[in-house]
Amino acid sequence: MTRRQKSAWHKQLDSDGIVWLTLDVPNSQTNTLTAAVIEELAAEVELLLAEVPKGLVLRSAKANGFLAGADINSFAEQESVDETYAAIKKVQDIFSRIESLTCPSVAMIHGFCLGGGLELALACDYRVAEDATSTRIGLPEVKLGIHPGYGGSVRLVELIGVLPAMGIMLTGRNLSARAAKKLAVVDRIAPTRQIERVVRDLILTAPAKQQPALLQRLLEKSLIRPLVALVLRYKTKQQAKQHHYPAPFALIDLWQQQASNRQQHFAAEALSVAKLIQTDTAQNLVRLFLLQDRLKAFGKQAKFQAQRVHVIGAGIMGGDIAAWCALQGLTVTLQDQSAAQIAPAIKRAHSLFKRRLKLPHLVQAAMDRLSPDIAGSGVARADVVIEAIYENLEAKQTLFKSIEPQLRADAVLATNTSSIPLELLAECLKQPKRLVGLHFFNPVARMQLVEIVYGKTTLKKWQKQAAAFVRQIGRLPLPVKSSPGFLVNRILMPYVLEAVKMEQEGIPILAIDKAATDFGMPMGPIELADAVGLDICLSVANILAPSLNLEVPDSLQRLISQGHLGRKTGQGFYQYDKNNKQISKQLATEYDNRDLLRQRLTLRLINECIACLDEAVVEDKELLDAGMVFGTGFAPFRGGPMHYTQQQGAQTLKQQLEDLATVFGSQFKPNSGWEGLL
Ligand code: NAI
Repeated sequence: MTRRQKSAWHKQLDSDGIVWLTLDVPNSQTNTLTAAVIEELAAEVELLLAEVPKGLVLRSAKANGFLAGADINSFAEQESVDETYAAIKKVQDIFSRIESLTCPSVAMIHGFCLGGGLELALACDYRVAEDATSTRIGLPEVKLGIHPGYGGSVRLVELIGVLPAMGIMLTGRNLSARAAKKLAVVDRIAPTRQIERVVRDLILTAPAKQQPALLQRLLEKSLIRPLVALVLRYKTKQQAKQHHYPAPFALIDLWQQQASNRQQHFAAEALSVAKLIQTDTAQNLVRLFLLQDRLKAFGKQAKFQAQRVHVIGAGIMGGDIAAWCALQGLTVTLQDQSAAQIAPAIKRAHSLFKRRLKLPHLVQAAMDRLSPDIAGSGVARADVVIEAIYENLEAKQTLFKSIEPQLRADAVLATNTSSIPLELLAECLKQPKRLVGLHFFNPVARMQLVEIVYGKTTLKKWQKQAAAFVRQIGRLPLPVKSSPGFLVNRILMPYVLEAVKMEQEGIPILAIDKAATDFGMPMGPIELADAVGLDICLSVANILAPSLNLEVPDSLQRLISQGHLGRKTGQGFYQYDKNNKQISKQLATEYDNRDLLRQRLTLRLINECIACLDEAVVEDKELLDAGMVFGTGFAPFRGGPMHYTQQQGAQTLKQQLEDLATVFGSQFKPNSGWEGLL
């Protein structure tokens, strides 16, 4: 006899005649719209239509939220446009049946209410969100290369008007409870203890439903619509190229061409998503989304929860790491040699808190969690100690020797070094197996990836705890072997140096950068060098040059000698105005052989990726792709450099490298790792 599956939806009828349908997907921490959840919901809705209650409440029993959206694993499983269309239409029809109920319906939202979750909530008459910092409401579908498909794009515009709705859908950004209330995406917000009462009141009083402002309704008129669409397209083009990211443009088209009949509009929405899911962009973005879960899983291998963090070195990195940890709720002590050296870091932390937390009492609480600590008294109490002082072996070793006796036996000891081998740093320690690298990237508040660097002797236990800590502060951990440049810097360096070499050959820098951005990189390599600082680039290049056999072009040193260190000094390869904006009008962009520029840049990068795999700097191709996308912004729609290599054909790319080597030199010689790919 087969055991009956546990159900996902639980129904309760209260004394007011209100049905409370609570979603609790079995064997999962998070609610998603799996096939089983949808089937069961369809059955429940039929029962409600047959016997309409006084009101309906949809809510979740999960601690982390209402509903995180569609089951993303199923995206890769759809085989044809027709099959996907049918699957989407089925969900749309269930949501429309909820909308058609003659009783008031309310979505009671806490935590995540994203994608299909918000689309379900939009099919209800009202939405009430918990007024808590954990509430996150949004339609992030564009980040997966699609747009809302369960009626959400139609209903959100109907609810709040085209411009605010497009502002949410085209960016895929999440809203806090308060922001969602301000935009009228939710009708009410309420603290936890009152939310049920507010929901019940809405059902019993059934006030008039939310409508968009008059101006927004005017923008829907067929004469004005093309103009609005033009503006939306123009703004979207500033953010993404249509042939790289078709979804936002498809969403604008869908709205502009909307059928007068609402049903046809829903059908067009479903068809548009069914087609988008099949694109390489969507498939690659979905793949990356799932890869992100692989990175997150590294953080689940240890039950480690830090409360106190001690950071030594309050410079660019240490200061920002300390601020980020305090923002994430940890108690942080920040050590440097003097108060004057810590002060700028505290000032930067304050602006970060103001930007992110907005409310003065939350900003104050975060400031209270971050304390300057010149004496280093936090070392003895910390769960995690992070060293981020000058990149100097002797200085770091002296520091480690002095703090080791004070460390708690269970504290993670980490270094943010970007180039010194861990084994060398650990030599001075009584317990060398303890040291682990936590390689954050600059700017800390923006870069999602943190490399977890392990040396030959590092104990797995410390790596796992370091990865758990990285997850705790909302970052993605990637284990990498301690070797020159680790993973990300090592791969970027040959690419940046090739760009500098091209500049030295007289190729216009705008043409070089454009070749990279046309490929899908977030910025060009020359602009990147200017942003990082030419002095830092040169020092990393010099460190990596002997082991990676790199030739460092003279122009880097020449600019540095002239005091041109990049954006920070107002001049590097580019010039910058006093607001740090690039002045580039007078520079030529035209260059005949753009394909050649792209090849030179991307192939040097890919060749280095393959060397890293060959040397097992990172465990496998997928993790390398994840590292490059989340660590450098490598064209996400291409799915990562190794996925790109596979799609182009390893043999083809290797041949291109060989051709480049004959013209431009041995830096293009394919490394031995290619053999394993052919
Ligand atoms: P920085 O020069 O901005 O700051 C270093 C700070 O350490 C200074 O404030 C200095 O006063 C302090 N310091 C030096 N010796 C000390 C000691 N014994 N005790 C307490 N404080 C001391 O340096 P930055 O750029 O923040 O780099 C720090 C570390 O992070 C280096 O290992 C670097 O390689 C690494 N890193 C740097 C990145 C960057 O983009 N700047 C990116 C990733 C890692």
